[in-house]
Amino acid sequence: MIRLGILVSGSGSNLQAIMDSCVCGDIDGMVAVVISNVEEAYALKRAENYDIPTKVISHEHYPDRVNFDMQLVKTLKEFDVGLVVLAGFMRILTPEFLKHFPGRIMNIHPALLPSFPGLEVRQKAIDHGVKLSGCSVHFVDDGVDTGPIIIQAAVPVYPDDSKEELKDRILALEHKIYPRAIQLFAQGRLDIVERKVFIRDQVKEKTAYMVNPPLED
Ligand code: GAR
Repeated sequence: MIRLGILVSGSGSNLQAIMDSCVCGDIDGMVAVVISNVEEAYALKRAENYDIPTKVISHEHYPDRVNFDMQLVKTLKEFDVGLVVLAGFMRILTPEFLKHFPGRIMNIHPALLPSFPGLEVRQKAIDHGVKLSGCSVHFVDDGVDTGPIIIQAAVPVYPDDSKEELKDRILALEHKIYPRAIQLFAQGRLDIVERKVFIRDQVKEKTAYMVNPPLED
């Protein structure tokens, strides 16, 4: 059973979906520890409600990013974590962190990468006028939102969308694809070849597509 170390900074709705998936058996794993760099993060409450150990490690208390990251690594290793899951963790990890968990760090991003990496991406998608956006689960490499993509899901974007409307539409899908990606990892079904992720025994749905606006009224 895989031991997950989840890093958070905010509300923790993805954490909630992952904890629920562990409880109901959709993920063959358990959340070993939840670490927040923000003391007031609601995600910590969610973890406490499930009796999951929590730690606050504030980046503000460390002289530089490497020292902060090394404290994260030490804590994750204390809890014998097999997969590091970034769930709304708003810090960029250093190469020093990455080398402790090669191929074992995942992130979720609220856009269809490689479009709109970085911050404020829902507003950027609306302002650009895209018709489809979505979310991406990817392995973390040393770039910003550049690692090999595991799963993506698309939603329509409407010209009069508010940032909140698009956020909610995307978040509902995040809660489905993140547990799925973690379960594929837990089952040992993900192979990374260069920057492509191959999923063993994947059902290939060749007729699935989404058009927005629809082709017919
Ligand atoms: C999610 O929308 C996630 O995709 C995003 O932060 C939100 C966290 O929500 N992550 C990033 O933007 C990372 N670059 P949550 O705390 O409710 O899970």
